[in-house]
Amino acid sequence: MKKNRKPFVAGNWKMHNTLSAARTLAIDVRERVGSLTEVEVAVCPSFTALATVVDVLRSSAVGVGAQNCHHEAKGAFTGEVAVDQIADLGCRYVIIGHSERRQLFGETDAGVARKVRAALDGKLTPIMCIGETLQEREAGRTFEVVLGQLDGGLASVTSDELSRLVLAYEPVWAIGTGKTASDEQAEEVHDRIRQRLREKHGAVADAVRIQYGGSVKPDNAKGLLGQPNIDGALVGGASLKADAFAAIVLAAHQ
Ligand code: PGA
Repeated sequence: MKKNRKPFVAGNWKMHNTLSAARTLAIDVRERVGSLTEVEVAVCPSFTALATVVDVLRSSAVGVGAQNCHHEAKGAFTGEVAVDQIADLGCRYVIIGHSERRQLFGETDAGVARKVRAALDGKLTPIMCIGETLQEREAGRTFEVVLGQLDGGLASVTSDELSRLVLAYEPVWAIGTGKTASDEQAEEVHDRIRQRLREKHGAVADAVRIQYGGSVKPDNAKGLLGQPNIDGALVGGASLKADAFAAIVLAAHQ
């Protein structure tokens, strides 16, 4: 049973869409799910399109997030973007520690923890991603890896702050591969994550939304999102098509 957790579906557009394509997609998303309030919905475009997409979605219920941030407030960090700069645009969220950033850009748990801290201090909702690789799963290390990333990334987060944070469990082997974790495989890890939060922080663990991510599509969304500890989805590929994204959002509204 889901206890008082509003489902949250976010689209991670990754490095896709020119400005005009982003505007069109945002308009299409607004038309389909812009007035839905039972599910929290957000889209996360590239930095270049954030201001435009915020503008398109301003009077709708759909929020906007960035895909990354820097942990420092300002300074000589060429090419980086600070939390305040993102919040100032009207964004509410920031994805932190996505597996592509961990694998391709060398992000560590310690770095993720600094960014989570910065996001919370800057009044953005962090969507902190964790997940094991296929090799780690096959070696029976899924819980060790996922809980290690969880503890590492939340190192400075207090129990009071915990409910302001969103987690995304994304098995790396399911991202962009078309292979999804089965409903049971996903629920097993979500349940274990929540148990760990409960051990460390008590009852507030029941207020934390844990999204599932990794090849979520309209046809598998209902099964995944119906699991007791899965509170929404972080959607990559399928979020680039407004119809598919809307179908996933509607599946969360069940
Ligand atoms: P996918 O991506 O839905 O394309 O697998 C998910 C993600 O990377 O957040």
